[in-house]
Amino acid sequence: MPGRPAAARAAAPRGTRIRAGFAHGRSFRGGQGSAPPGAAAPGSSVPALSLVIRPEHAADGPGIARLHARAFGPGRYARTAYRLREGGAHRADLGVTASVGSFLAGSVRMNAVRAAAGPAFLALGPLAVDPSFAGRGIGSALMRASLAAAAAAGEGLVILVGDAPFYARFGFAPVGNGDLELPGPVDPARFLWLELAEGFRARVHGRVAALPPGA
Ligand SMILES: CC(C)(COP(=O)(O)OP(=O)(O)OC[C@H]1O[C@@H](n2cnc3c(N)ncnc32)[C@H](O)[C@@H]1OP(=O)(O)O)[C@@H](O)C(=O)NCCC(=O)NCCS
Repeated sequence: MPGRPAAARAAAPRGTRIRAGFAHGRSFRGGQGSAPPGAAAPGSSVPALSLVIRPEHAADGPGIARLHARAFGPGRYARTAYRLREGGAHRADLGVTASVGSFLAGSVRMNAVRAAAGPAFLALGPLAVDPSFAGRGIGSALMRASLAAAAAAGEGLVILVGDAPFYARFGFAPVGNGDLELPGPVDPARFLWLELAEGFRARVHGRVAALPPGA
């Protein structure tokens, strides 16, 4: 979206190293004997690899497509969340990835969408972490980084389709009032939103669709 990338990139982490490092299949948690980046694992001369959270680069595309295939499987294109993104393009300035060495271990993207009435806003997804790195805080780190980038870019609202128990920790709650409708069936308990600008939710109504690239 014109005018947005610089602001968002300034907010998105540029290679933030977070608490987990990995070597020889072991993980080192912050506060529990963390290994510094590049340090050898205990009892080993092999350097530990640390996790880096950074903005998505254009070259990440193929790795992210493979990650989506591993995380969601072949049925992913039939999901309502995928249909919501049809005809649009992800916001290149708001994508965030997690890598361990040269391996792309996680990714989150955002798409611009619009309801029948009201200003444009964001749909978050896909969020995916490679199954071999699940449960180490990567998904949460990606969520925090992408929401910070969206807020810094001046966005007012983020919607998603996903597991409420996971997303509630970032402030998401069920849309629940029937004001917004998705282009396909969805369990209302999984249709969530998070307001980034106060009062934004009251301004959007009707069926949500992807904003075509350049619109
Ligand atoms: C969902 C996903 C992104 C979570 O990534 P992750 O790196 O494993 O998440 P984290 O390690 O940051 O997990 C943080 C917490 O969320 C919990 N959690 C993870 N996935 C959850 C889910 N689907 N529902 C409820 N809680 C979940 C974890 O148990 C953990 O809880 P704790 O802090 O109490 O220990 C990852 O499992 C994944 O890619 N799954 C397959 C694709 C998918 O379902 N994407 C989301 C679309 S809804």
